[in-house]
Amino acid sequence: MRILLVGGGGREHALAWAIAASPLCTTLYCAPGNAGIAKEATCVPIVAEDVDGLVTFAQENAIDFVVVGPEAPLVAGLVDRLTAAGIKAFGPTAAAAALEGSKGFTKDLCAKYDIPTARYRRFTDATEAKAYVAIEGAPIVVKADGLAAGKGVVVAQTVEEAQDAVDAMLTEGGFGAAGASIVVEECLVGPELSFFALCDGETALPLATARDHKRAFDNDEGPNTGGMGAVSPHPLATPELEARIMAEVVQPTLKAMEAEGTPFRGILFAGLMLTERGPQLIEHNVRFGDPECETLLPRLNSDLLTALIAAADGTLRHLTLRWRPEAAVTVVMAANGYPGSYRKGSPIRALEAAGQVPGTIVFHAGTRAEADGTVTAHGGRVLAVTALGADIAEARSRAYQAVDRIDWPEGFCRRDIAV
Ligand code: AMP
Ligand code: GLY
Repeated sequence: MRILLVGGGGREHALAWAIAASPLCTTLYCAPGNAGIAKEATCVPIVAEDVDGLVTFAQENAIDFVVVGPEAPLVAGLVDRLTAAGIKAFGPTAAAAALEGSKGFTKDLCAKYDIPTARYRRFTDATEAKAYVAIEGAPIVVKADGLAAGKGVVVAQTVEEAQDAVDAMLTEGGFGAAGASIVVEECLVGPELSFFALCDGETALPLATARDHKRAFDNDEGPNTGGMGAVSPHPLATPELEARIMAEVVQPTLKAMEAEGTPFRGILFAGLMLTERGPQLIEHNVRFGDPECETLLPRLNSDLLTALIAAADGTLRHLTLRWRPEAAVTVVMAANGYPGSYRKGSPIRALEAAGQVPGTIVFHAGTRAEADGTVTAHGGRVLAVTALGADIAEARSRAYQAVDRIDWPEGFCRRDIAV
């Protein structure tokens, strides 16, 4: 099969690595890809948001199956457009991608179908929102409705902070259209857990759990980032907890989407908080997490491409996935300054030596191959160093051994991933 993978981060390098290994894959393109992906696929210079460009490329290159990595093209309707063009694709339609594209949509769905989540109200008017904040008190959470590149959530410790967040979104329009409507919700307390399930509209196949580390610096200090590392399985995961999440969150979401006439196909990535009243949904995402994907896929011991095609075809009920017994840890290396401004173009050396640590794979995120073969940093999150180990401690130790071999003075990482 001729496959087109959309995206160019660490998540897509992990997807490219797994898809290229499939006996079903004869040709793999990636748009736009990166220096690491270029070793698995032919990279084509089309950005993931260029829906027209991607559809045209797929048509002109006789693509049989498209795998979409990031959320933006899903929310923009890439899968709808490909389907209309007769090209099979993995990922939700735009209507089903509203599970990530609109926080208010998901909250209303949870309310209607009794899916456990924080108490909330939706607002488009700042005065009404601030009045609600004043009555509820702090801590309280203010969220932009739409996609805001991970910056649209304010967990406010005081009423004033929450009201400032309301103003930033509704009065000042700081988040553009994504913040023209907001959700104000109860602040939940407890450890967070990410749960991934592969869905075909009717059947959900649980994949795995993960814990991610969102803050930039050790001890969960510094600004929020896209994710500085992850571990899978989540240290608190048990078969009972996973069954409960499937029964209380994943299956009801799938049933609800079917009942609403917008069945969900693709990866359902539920962000949960394990509270005193049980697992509560913080948010749904409609794609693999990054860097969680780099952590999960090396643990999978079945053919990923077969599973993605079964999800698109609606035949997941016939599929069983096998997993390795090992745990996995991913440490992200980011450019100094990330998630603020950072320099591009610094050379990264000794990547091969790092990849030789047993059980280790160095996934590329924001990298570029220069004409002379040098790999340079070309983004905020630059590498996702993943290691498998007999347990989390061994996986962590291997991942950091690999990190320590990488010669990149302009990069940094957290030293406490999976601790
Ligand atoms: P993001 O991935 O940018 O949407 O970040 C959301 C983060 O904000 C979550 O990972 C939580 O840590 C936090 N958060 C979101 N909603 C709540 C909530 N209702 N209560 C407490 N923390 C929350
Ligand atoms: N690492 C979190 C995410 O991909 O949303």
